[in-house]
Amino acid sequence: MKPVFSRILYGGDYNPNQWPKEVWQEDMRIFKDARINSATINVFSWAKIQPSEETYNFSELDEIIDMLSRENYDIVLATSTAALPAWMAKRYPEVMRTDYEGLQHKFGGRHNACPHSPVFKGFAKKLAGELAKRYGDNSHIACWHISNEYGGECYCENCTRAFRIWLRKKYGTIEALNKAWNMEFWGHTVYDWDEIVLPNALSDGIGYDKTAFAGLSIDYCRFNSDSLLANFTMERDAIREYDKDTPITTNLMGTYKALDYFKWAKEMDIVSWDNYPSYNTPWSSTAMRHDLMRGLKNAPFMLMEQTPSQQNWQRYNSLKRPGQMRAQSYQTVAHGADTIQFFQLRRSVGGCEKFHGAVIAHVGTENTRVFREVKQLGEELEKLGNTMLGAVNQAEVGVIFDWDNYWALEYTSGPNVDITYVNTIHQYYQYFYKKNIAVDMIPVDADFSKYKLIVAPVLYMVKKGMKEALTRFVENGGILVTTYMSGIVDESDNVHLGGYPGPLRELAGVWVEEIDALAPEQKNRVMFTDGGEADCGLVCDLMHLEGAENLASYGKDFYAGMPAVTKNKFGNGAVYYVGTRLEEAGLCRVLTKIAEQAGVTPVIAEETELEVVCRETEDTKFYFVINFKDEQCRIPQCFVGEADLLTDKVIENGEMIPKYGVRLVSVKK
Ligand code: GLA
Ligand code: ZN
Repeated sequence: MKPVFSRILYGGDYNPNQWPKEVWQEDMRIFKDARINSATINVFSWAKIQPSEETYNFSELDEIIDMLSRENYDIVLATSTAALPAWMAKRYPEVMRTDYEGLQHKFGGRHNACPHSPVFKGFAKKLAGELAKRYGDNSHIACWHISNEYGGECYCENCTRAFRIWLRKKYGTIEALNKAWNMEFWGHTVYDWDEIVLPNALSDGIGYDKTAFAGLSIDYCRFNSDSLLANFTMERDAIREYDKDTPITTNLMGTYKALDYFKWAKEMDIVSWDNYPSYNTPWSSTAMRHDLMRGLKNAPFMLMEQTPSQQNWQRYNSLKRPGQMRAQSYQTVAHGADTIQFFQLRRSVGGCEKFHGAVIAHVGTENTRVFREVKQLGEELEKLGNTMLGAVNQAEVGVIFDWDNYWALEYTSGPNVDITYVNTIHQYYQYFYKKNIAVDMIPVDADFSKYKLIVAPVLYMVKKGMKEALTRFVENGGILVTTYMSGIVDESDNVHLGGYPGPLRELAGVWVEEIDALAPEQKNRVMFTDGGEADCGLVCDLMHLEGAENLASYGKDFYAGMPAVTKNKFGNGAVYYVGTRLEEAGLCRVLTKIAEQAGVTPVIAEETELEVVCRETEDTKFYFVINFKDEQCRIPQCFVGEADLLTDKVIENGEMIPKYGVRLVSVKK
């Protein structure tokens, strides 16, 4: 794939405006030593570059950009609209958001603009245009970075009015809306658009994350995602007036719930994201998020932020252990990143992020462990050059991820409060990760025909066209896996009547009559028909076979003997239905059988505890071999005799890779 950049961008958020000028020169010297070639600037500088409603002052930004241009940096230039200036909040209180409890905020914080405030939109659009007019033809600007980590919600009167317009466009008539939201329930029928209010703590919200009317709340999620997206496209278009071709992005946040990133990615030139795992985040979970970010555009992405060592905002901000940042960075590149960027380049002197890790620590020198590790990685990436830029990841397995399903599943009241979307998807993803079977994270409207196996856990909402697309896929020989809590509702969160799993019933060859919910301390067992057993819990579907074959039955309770896991031959393919949450060994057993039938193969034939990922260009395959285990692991035999591109050392027979060790091997195709 044609790369977006001409080299691996290596750098990150840089805030020289928070420092006296003498420090800038020192920064340039130290960054050069670490092979830093990129800086993301102007992220939170709105108050600085626009001191009042009538005036801009770009003199300091000019100096920063001049300095970075002289030093041949690839500049990632932010539009700085993610935090409002105080003068704006004072003069136009409407620019501030109104929260879920209905409180209108005063000046403070960040990511704080009401997306439907005409004042905010006017100022933001104008600023983006001014920046593009001034800097758009500087060839050192490698990328535009609009706002920052879009997110959150607003429940103000402007947003209420905009929501009504959005609904009108979607439903056309008030009758259609009443039907979609099933408003006969609790006597909610509305007769006029202006009777509709936003779902929050003052109306139909139940706590922060549940709702009395999921149809309404899901529409609000869609609306809110669209609203923030419209803020993004507004600034993008303002930039495009003056700068026709520099790529434009905004930094996303992995599985962040509030924004439908598949929709967002269509408007972005390149996806970028911020990766902040906790000390106990499984590496498979980070890998899944990378695959999701790659999947948004099915293309390489930017790692816009990671910390060189520590965060400040988690409960326990552990240091990255020696080698960990390097291993994590190669995992990122392995899954599709063409940049490695940090938050941030110099640790702040004040504010809540003063404990956040940075390339230059408070000591102010390069004589730190963290700096040495940043430098080592910089040297290695420089040595790799652009050989791998634009390289693609190939997969035979597609795992469906869908924001409508995320919202709908987690809004459900019952059967079990512990059902969560991302964790369930991850439970399935993890199996493939551990086997080194490459996975694409795909949307519900992906081209399924590219895959041998589609994994669709908790496909709770089955939207129009989905049944047909999955049927075609299976008829043509594809293998589909789905689970409990699938096929239940339509896009308005109304139940597909006629028995669960609704539109998937015929495909799966089962009818789910009831769904039992198990508390954390309750367990059931499944007994596999070919021997062996496993624990299960969370929910148990009570199902009847309608053509499917039973692979495992419940071992306990009044539904002992009823099917728990089934397989239905359909057309040239098959559909597996897993009716309960299996513990890991049980799920592994089921998925191994499925992977075998689908004929999906791991990246390398040999089984290993190491993470092995392949990225490929037209003529070369690059194998990343990374050890995320606590103990050293032997390198797979197929890499013996190959040179490690990072060190040029030839890999020896029986060589052990220590924890966080990495090898990178290229093989001509
Ligand atoms: C986010 C933001 C950054 C910074 C980091 C700290 O990703 O985009 O501005 O606050 O978190 O981890
Ligand atoms: Zn608002």
